[in-house]
Amino acid sequence: MQRNPSIIPVLVWLLPLAVQTGRLAAQTGDLGPPQAQARVDALLGRMTLEEKVGQLNQISPDSTTGPKQAVENADELIRNGSVGGMLNAVTARETNGLQREAVEGSRMHIPILFGLDVIHGFRTLFPIPLGLSASWDPALVGQTARYAAQEASSQGVRWVFSPMVDIARDPRWGRIAEGAGEDPYLGSAFARAYVRGYQGESLDNPTSVVACAKHFVGYGAAEGGRDYNTTEISERTLRGVYLPPFQAAVGDGVGTVMSAFNAINGVPASANAFTLTQVLRTEWGFRGFVDSDWTAVREVMLHGIADDERTAALRSFLAGVDMDMQSGIYLHNVAGLVRSGQVPMERLDESVRAILRIKVALGLFEHPYVGEAVVPDPAAAALGATLARKAAEESFVLLENRKFGGAPLLPLAASKGRRIALLGPLADSAEDMLGCWSCQAEPSDMVTLRSALSERAARQGMHLSFAPGTEVSGTSEAGFSKAMDAARNADVVVMALGESGHSSGEASSRSDINLPGNQEKLLEAVVGTGKPVVLVVFSGRPLSIAWASEHVPAVLMAWFPGTQAGPALVRTLFGDAEPAGRLTVSVPRSVGQVPIYYNHLNTGRPRVDPIGLGATKPDPYFVTGYIDQENTPLYPFGYGLTYTSFSYSPAHVSAATLSSKDINLGKARLAVSAEVRNTGNREGTETAQLYIRLRGTSVARPVRELKGFQRVHLAPGESRRLEFELGRDELAFWNADMKEAAEPGSLYVWVAPDSARGTPAKVELAE
Ligand code: BGC
Repeated sequence: MQRNPSIIPVLVWLLPLAVQTGRLAAQTGDLGPPQAQARVDALLGRMTLEEKVGQLNQISPDSTTGPKQAVENADELIRNGSVGGMLNAVTARETNGLQREAVEGSRMHIPILFGLDVIHGFRTLFPIPLGLSASWDPALVGQTARYAAQEASSQGVRWVFSPMVDIARDPRWGRIAEGAGEDPYLGSAFARAYVRGYQGESLDNPTSVVACAKHFVGYGAAEGGRDYNTTEISERTLRGVYLPPFQAAVGDGVGTVMSAFNAINGVPASANAFTLTQVLRTEWGFRGFVDSDWTAVREVMLHGIADDERTAALRSFLAGVDMDMQSGIYLHNVAGLVRSGQVPMERLDESVRAILRIKVALGLFEHPYVGEAVVPDPAAAALGATLARKAAEESFVLLENRKFGGAPLLPLAASKGRRIALLGPLADSAEDMLGCWSCQAEPSDMVTLRSALSERAARQGMHLSFAPGTEVSGTSEAGFSKAMDAARNADVVVMALGESGHSSGEASSRSDINLPGNQEKLLEAVVGTGKPVVLVVFSGRPLSIAWASEHVPAVLMAWFPGTQAGPALVRTLFGDAEPAGRLTVSVPRSVGQVPIYYNHLNTGRPRVDPIGLGATKPDPYFVTGYIDQENTPLYPFGYGLTYTSFSYSPAHVSAATLSSKDINLGKARLAVSAEVRNTGNREGTETAQLYIRLRGTSVARPVRELKGFQRVHLAPGESRRLEFELGRDELAFWNADMKEAAEPGSLYVWVAPDSARGTPAKVELAE
């Protein structure tokens, strides 16, 4: 998105790091206190039809985050009461100015709700959401959301278009960077964490912002990984895979939901009555409002289900889209549709009520403006930097750490006189460290790997040489020789390779997911010198780095780490911080394997039987797979190394048999435990993962499904018994009758370090 350089970094409120965990009251979903409801009704009773329709209109007057779409004179629209929401106003001065027009210049004095794509921070940038998810630490992610809420709200932005809770199983899709990966259980945990962090304890706290769960729904299933593309999703997969994170967000009181661009089984998501009304409102009881994605209401014409704007408005509105982002189609058509009787007035009132309820809940009527003359608060900025560094450190995933000269290459020893060569086009690129949706961050705020490493080298008497070697997408080898010389003269080489910050995110799908340009050629040449090489990979998606995985002794997946990229990396490389991240997406061996995800079905001809049922030993030839490639990923979901090692005891289950009927009635639960031991000689954090598999059920279930996880920090030699529970929420699924229920069958349970390891315990699920 366009950035506004005039933003002044200010923080008005210090960061209360504790993010509330209980279900949030007063929000959205609820009607709010009776006085608030009465206030909304009183306003509604005095509004003209046109003013009501005005509340459904959202505009972005200046900058754009989508295809250009002219907006008529914004000031005049606001004064006429024709603007309910705006996006892309980013400074206190801008929001205050526009707000003044609404509050002082319009007949009803209704404040505007200002929204923005605050995706992984506002001015202080945290890692991209895919990186944040690799922390497997929802509490930490909640803290980053709370911090972003404070920065954004200080400028009058009280609505963020986040979290993106789309499940993504295809790394070609650029927007995989914006979500929490491929798993619905983990995705739901992060959805809740973001909502709690943004919305805080109460929306009327001036530092709270209303969250927006997007993109409803199935957007991540875009065919071929091409952004905006069609999706075909069975109702079972929709309900079992794509909907759960949205339901989790709604359960935690998310105030708004954004309808997606894609068509689901032929019906555009932004005109889809099944998802928007049947599921979201009727089944889940959502009482906030639905905002369309950018011009998505207009796009239902391009999808082909409306020939004119009036029909597009009718279809989207009746399906359940309350606010129209940037199409202007509601503004010009909904009043006519009400007059003609095609849209009942009560239906319009419902949408306007939902929008006004949020404005009341945010306290916008009492406090429509924010202070402009605030002094930057160094204490708050220092807190932000510390949080950004910690979040970055927790996002890194150590993929390889082989021995070099007798010991694992990482962590590096910071010995005096040590010569380090830092190579690669991303070692000193501040702009790229921002990743997609950089919001108000400034490259000048970023600390690159090169600058942090130079500082460290100078402080500890090490010698650092630097050469980019090549460009991110370049083909010229002119820089190779300088890089090779640096490598030859070094004791250790750190290579910073990967994608540019804008190769992922919206409209940034790739058909190839290798290292771009000639970076791999440079890597091969440098590794050929025989020097120990640490590869740091920056990217917004899993990259197929099969060669590196085999030949480079240490590989660290760094995603796009945000403002504190350099310090977090240097602390990790030298062992002041430990890499504790775990993959939330499968890393394919090659692009031909995608879509790839750990929780797939077994098929009737699996290549490997994951439970080892002897009777179904696979035929060596007639099996699902490729003749030229494994089925398994290069690195599985849940995988990540640390600087120590852990062992697991077999999983212990509290019962050999459980009644599925009792599970459904909430009367039976299974306790599962396992002991995790730190078997290395450094302290470290392990993420123990609980997986299940169900067999003998009315529909085939995935080979594994995540149903619990715990992070545990252990000293060398220390062990801890971790306890988990499985009940209806974990064991029910959408069965052959499309009922969500547990069924009789066999249950296998793993407590394991990732989705590919461990030995299951078996439990019988009786009638
Ligand atoms: C994106 C949304 C974003 C919106 C507003 C759209 O193009 O799909 O994720 O929130 O623009 O900027």
